[in-house]
Amino acid sequence: MNTTQFALPSNGIPTSQLDPYCDEALVEPWETYTVLQNLGSAVWLEKYGMFALTRYDSVIRALKDATAFSSASGVMMNDQMNKVLRGNTLCSDGEDHRRLRRITASPLAPATLNGLKSDITTKAEQIVDRLVAKGRFCAVTELATALPIDIVASAVGLPQEGRERMLVWAEQMYNCFGPLNDRARNAFPVLDEMMHYATTQALRGKLRPGGWAEAIIDAVDRGEADQSARPALMIDYIGPSLETTISAIGSGVWLFAKNPGEWLRVRDTPSCVPSAINEVLRMETPLQGYSRLVAQDYQMNEVTLPAGSRAIVFYGAANRDERKFSDPHRFDVTRNAVEQLAFGTGPHACIGLHLAKLEMTAIFRALATRVKRFHIEQELRNVNNTLRGFKKLIVAVER
Ligand code: HEM
Repeated sequence: MNTTQFALPSNGIPTSQLDPYCDEALVEPWETYTVLQNLGSAVWLEKYGMFALTRYDSVIRALKDATAFSSASGVMMNDQMNKVLRGNTLCSDGEDHRRLRRITASPLAPATLNGLKSDITTKAEQIVDRLVAKGRFCAVTELATALPIDIVASAVGLPQEGRERMLVWAEQMYNCFGPLNDRARNAFPVLDEMMHYATTQALRGKLRPGGWAEAIIDAVDRGEADQSARPALMIDYIGPSLETTISAIGSGVWLFAKNPGEWLRVRDTPSCVPSAINEVLRMETPLQGYSRLVAQDYQMNEVTLPAGSRAIVFYGAANRDERKFSDPHRFDVTRNAVEQLAFGTGPHACIGLHLAKLEMTAIFRALATRVKRFHIEQELRNVNNTLRGFKKLIVAVER
């Protein structure tokens, strides 16, 4: 199915000319999401020839029903990218998906990650001590990046020379995930570089023995996945393991700087850090949306989605749906937003969520005992088709 050529379905379906991928909407998507939510359970985006699912109820139904909402022909919003990334955990269905997920999810199970916990806590404290002593730092490039680069890149075990490119690759990969606009088109050459690396460098002998990437090769050698799937499976780690968590930590600092009262609550009651993290992820969902191919006619309340159409599943919109979260645009660390959908849900729910939460908890716990208040001196949003976060966020800290 060619995503971009699906004909407008029959009358009676809510349609919209809004563009959730223009610069303004990527920077500030909330109004667009509210309009789409009020139009219906599924809304046909005329510009893209795809449905938008923005209500919490619609998003959760699509994510839980992987038979009707298929990932095997890609979860991206353009055909070019859906052809590049095939046969990994993210872009597979049914038994294939379960088999691949057993391989990629195994080092990320909570029990296995326990071994990394004390290292993550110690490193987070060292990073925060050093930056707080400076009094002013970039919450993205200096704070949020340091821990994932140090811990996760080593755990994956890629050759050293590729690691510094991982951030650029991931950022541009998320542009390629969007509709085929200029942001996506300009990103494809960088994506080629990432695929080339995954094919030619992520090989036994070049990878750190015992690392997560080498475990993929072991599984391929045991016959648990095809040899041809190896590069795509490497992308399951190279793509989402760093930039998503970095965005989440940066956005967290931004939210706490903007809401000093909420930061005080975290400082007074450090046990509310896990709840505060869910609220950060709800408010500033790092991956705003992926898509699904509608595999069979599907009745989404009042709207019939025809088989063969594509639906964009907006996690970020669901997380701000007033039908689910009261006063959804208010940042409230006591809300306990455990039902936020930043990691998706259902069979494709994020395999890295425990790791990401471990890293975020370590950083915000370390900050809570050292920083009274953040003051934003400079901020620059990263305008990206899928990833929400900052390129730069200079903060001064009060101790
Ligand atoms: C704050 C950090 C993160 C966020 C917000 C995030 C978000 C997501 C989301 C929304 C999905 C669902 C995709 C779908 O519905 O099709 C997902 C899946 C996935 N994530 Fe994450 N992720 C994060 C961290 C990580 C990390 C650290 C890793 C790896 C080390 C990772 C690896 C994956 C993989 C492999 C999948 C595919 C799972 C499947 O299809 O079964 N993610 N992630």
